[in-house]
Amino acid sequence: MLLKIAKTTALAALTVSALHATNYSAQAEKDRLEVIKYFEAKFEDPLKNKNTFFPYSTDEELEKSEKGLKHADFALGSYSFNKDGKSQYEEIKEMPPYEDDVDAGAKLYEKQFANGKSMATCFPNPAIMASYPYFDEKRKEVVSLTQAVNECLTTNGEKAWNTQKGDMAKLQAFFATKSVEAEQKIDVKINSAEAAAAYERGKEYYYSQRGYLKLNCAECHVQGAGQRVRNEKLSPLLGQMTQWPVYRLKWAGLGTPERRMSGCIVDEGQVPPKDTSKEMKELLFFMSYMSNGMAIDGPDIRK
Ligand code: HEC
Repeated sequence: MLLKIAKTTALAALTVSALHATNYSAQAEKDRLEVIKYFEAKFEDPLKNKNTFFPYSTDEELEKSEKGLKHADFALGSYSFNKDGKSQYEEIKEMPPYEDDVDAGAKLYEKQFANGKSMATCFPNPAIMASYPYFDEKRKEVVSLTQAVNECLTTNGEKAWNTQKGDMAKLQAFFATKSVEAEQKIDVKINSAEAAAAYERGKEYYYSQRGYLKLNCAECHVQGAGQRVRNEKLSPLLGQMTQWPVYRLKWAGLGTPERRMSGCIVDEGQVPPKDTSKEMKELLFFMSYMSNGMAIDGPDIRK
């Protein structure tokens, strides 16, 4: 009898958990933990692990690399391991060249549209970096911050902004500053089969060879991370979404992540998808998931 009761209870418990347990983020979470493990192992001791991870680097280069990096360290991109790059970065950071842009972004946030509304009407709380990109379960699509800002403009009868620089990047810099003040972390959620499929397509994009050069993002930013291409050290996938928008010295201004990603896709010998296309947003969704749990630290500076 006792056994019978125990059995029924166990069975009941199983049914309940099966009903609630469809964990749509299980695969993504597995991927994320593997990526963390990979990069921590890779940068545990680059010189010692040369044969495993850096077959094309010289000892001299690897001696200059930081060691013992942990998850949170990778938010700094290539400066997390590149000692020379990091000291230049820290010098520039003392007087960040984007401060006026953040102020301009704060003004854009309050500025009234012709109909009397404003960005503040669409985004009452400006600390919103942790909320984007997200999978909209009603629209069945990923919504990016860039898209949401332009939708706020167009639904209020205003013209959409350039998705890569200018006002768009300045407003995002203001949002980032507020999100840092609120100590936000990246927190992408996958709550449905459709959201999981969008994540998988973004991942596939990152790992698929493209263009006539037959390159994929992962060759440079996973296997290649830490190595040099031309005069630049390659940043790791882990943490690539924490620091936006970025002020690049090469651009002499701020840019959105879509701007930078398009640049890399062009370098792959390919025409980049539109910034608010399904492909670009799903790529952002995947990359942001990989940075889940890491502190938002934008705007930031890169070479
Ligand atoms: C041929 C190598 C190469 C490929 C392929 C490549 N990139 Fe890059 N990428 C670079 C270099 C070089 C930089 C500048 C150094 C750095 O920060 O990694 C860069 C920078 C970036 C950054 C900025 C990192 C930061 O810390 O600010 C992002 C984001 C990025 N790439 C995304 C992508 C995506 C997405 C793809 C695939 C569509 C891709 N890259 C493909 C070489 C590459």
